[in-house]
Amino acid sequence: MEHVAVSPWVMLAYLVAGVCFIIALRGLSSPESSRAGNRAGMIGMAIAVITTLVTHDVASLPEIGIAIAIGGAIGFVIAKRIAMTAMPQLVAAFHSLVGLAAVLVGAAAYLNPEAFGIVGATGEILTVSRVEMGLGVAIGAITFSGSVIAFLKLNGNMSGKPIILPARHFINLGTLAAILGLIAYFTQDQDPWVFWTVTGLSFAIGFLLIIPIGGADMPVVVSMLNSYSGWAAAAMGFTLHNTAMIITGALVGASGAILSYIMCRAMNRSFISVIAGGFGGDAAAAGGGTAIDRPWKRGSAEDAAFLMKQAEQVIIVPGYGMAVAQAQHALREMGDLLEAEGVTVKYAIHPVAGRMPGHMNVLLAEASVDYDKVFELEDINSEFARSDVAFVIGANDVTNPAAKTDKTSPIYGMPVLDVEKAKTVLFVKRSMGGVGYAGVDNEVFYRDNTMMLLADAKKMVEDIVKSMG
Ligand code: TAP
Repeated sequence: MEHVAVSPWVMLAYLVAGVCFIIALRGLSSPESSRAGNRAGMIGMAIAVITTLVTHDVASLPEIGIAIAIGGAIGFVIAKRIAMTAMPQLVAAFHSLVGLAAVLVGAAAYLNPEAFGIVGATGEILTVSRVEMGLGVAIGAITFSGSVIAFLKLNGNMSGKPIILPARHFINLGTLAAILGLIAYFTQDQDPWVFWTVTGLSFAIGFLLIIPIGGADMPVVVSMLNSYSGWAAAAMGFTLHNTAMIITGALVGASGAILSYIMCRAMNRSFISVIAGGFGGDAAAAGGGTAIDRPWKRGSAEDAAFLMKQAEQVIIVPGYGMAVAQAQHALREMGDLLEAEGVTVKYAIHPVAGRMPGHMNVLLAEASVDYDKVFELEDINSEFARSDVAFVIGANDVTNPAAKTDKTSPIYGMPVLDVEKAKTVLFVKRSMGGVGYAGVDNEVFYRDNTMMLLADAKKMVEDIVKSMG
């Protein structure tokens, strides 16, 4: 192998970059430190990119500069324009690019192995490189097609309902076994048909694995694809002999896997059942429509203002609808006014409220809500029974008691916020017919202690604020 020994300075720079990434991950684990974490990540990436550019025999710096400028400009415009609610599909789209890049690097290395220094004495590609290449291309292709499907589902271009193929487990397991078998065979025979069949089958399995997954399992899928994109990058790091890529890929792969695990626990679902898919299959059929006939109470902004001003403690439960309406600033104003009246105000965040991990935390932080008023499910759930008002704003599934009692419900077993235990539940949503992500009706709407505040979340909170003034 004609590879030159890597200078210790390069290794040191990559090590520093790796440490920066670990500090970044640590920082991102809490809203207070997330900005500092992001900065550490950016510094680490700058060190890694600059080190690679100056020390590797890069073919043409101007060409790379132009590519970075074009990519950077597109990324800048997208980041500026993107609505917070569209963030999950953006993340899915970005993962698809990582997967595609891994496939392209693998294909380039396969077609021109000399340029990558992976040719052995016999003139054939080194066996170890064939394994790295095969795995990298396979994981990359799965990440690409899986992320494209996740994007289409989250963006509403494709139904969020699971699409169940007959004998899918059989087809999926067979395809996975074929991919692994072919990668093993690739070590013996580097014929193009082997390489391209692995690539083609991997694109297909990414597609097949994600189409049966629907509804409430999408967050786990996006984080799982995030993990795959990391492993694909790490595999390509081996092919490219780039330590920084191996470290970064492994960190992304491991942290994505841990996040997927945490989310599975938050939804009380096993990882295998998520991957096997099909969750929420008949969710839409169970949807709210039929239940509209049941009696329920409607309240006004004035009623809500009156009730909350009398309260000792109000717990605010934000959900996806608050994000859609961008009601967080008005909500914070409402909280301030209540506190000025001597009411204790707390915010309860369900781990999968909204459409991405930390969605509600980010929005509340944007509106400068104090972090010490924001509580995780397990820290606040016992407090609902002691609270006068639970103010549910644009949340639905995460408050649905069916998760505790109804074995047939698609969200059965998911831990939920016990809002119905508060003396009064104020429920802000636009209509009685509208359902949450899992597509099921919510028993709390019809309880005696519930008052429905039907309006756009922002408009309703602004009206409540006016009535308090
Ligand atoms: P959902 O159950 O999706 O409920 C959202 C509620 O907001 C609906 O009842 C909707 O009713 C209302 N709404 C929508 N727009 C509104 C507006 N402009 N003003 C007022 N209300 C509005 O939300 P959730 O309780 O936050 O639960 C999250 C769900 O999404 C879970 O099932 C979770 O598994 C899933 N999910 C989570 C993630 C992550 S990682 N957080 C990612 C993907 C999916 P109307 O239509 O009647 O207004």
